[in-house]
Amino acid sequence: MKNTLIAPSVLSADFANLQRDIEMINNSEADWFHIDIMDGVFVPNISFGMPVLEAITRHAKKTIDVHVMIVNPDQYIKTFAQLGTTNLTVHFEACTHLHRTLQAIKAEGMKAGVALNPHTNVALLEDIINDIDVVCLMSVNPGFGGQSFIERTYDKVKQLKEIITRNNASTLIEIDGGVSDKNAKQLVEAGADVLVAGNYVFRAQDPVATIASLKKLTSF
Ligand code: DX5
Ligand code: ZN
Repeated sequence: MKNTLIAPSVLSADFANLQRDIEMINNSEADWFHIDIMDGVFVPNISFGMPVLEAITRHAKKTIDVHVMIVNPDQYIKTFAQLGTTNLTVHFEACTHLHRTLQAIKAEGMKAGVALNPHTNVALLEDIINDIDVVCLMSVNPGFGGQSFIERTYDKVKQLKEIITRNNASTLIEIDGGVSDKNAKQLVEAGADVLVAGNYVFRAQDPVATIASLKKLTSF
């Protein structure tokens, strides 16, 4: 049976009630905390930084999946590890020496993730797929929550799944952006393992029930 992992995106939480929203995720069927860090350079938005990440990890009781949308992520790898990060995902487009960056992330005891912008072809990962724990396929342009899902993502998932299988890799496929009950099942059928959901969870009347229904819809 497929156990799809659900990763609510804290970017869509109520920052004035952050601890309450973290406890909501702790007490739900969610698997990971997805945490978006933006620098206003790699993406046209600034989210939050280390002090807020530290506050989140103090209360969060599940896998800490940090997605960094920043230039020069190498200089912060150690800090992310010290703050309790489980998975550190860097952008393909921000790393000139991606192989070196992934080794540095693993040397700090974290899982290494690579995020691809919508325009980046998954075939570019062919030579490095065995070194990647998680590929995060952006199904919106990174920078903001609440955008609409880019339909082309299904084909990218299938193509990436084929690369993973052919290379005998154990890489997980994570989808980030515009995920909802409208596309979740089809994404998992195409090969997705982890679904990030921001607005769909946090704008719902009952976020705990919404997480449970997403989990049920994608576990078959
Ligand atoms: C976008 C972030 C996403 C975002 C997803 O740059 O990487 O994680 O929070 O939010 P939704 O699910 O609302 O598109
Ligand atoms: Zn993200």
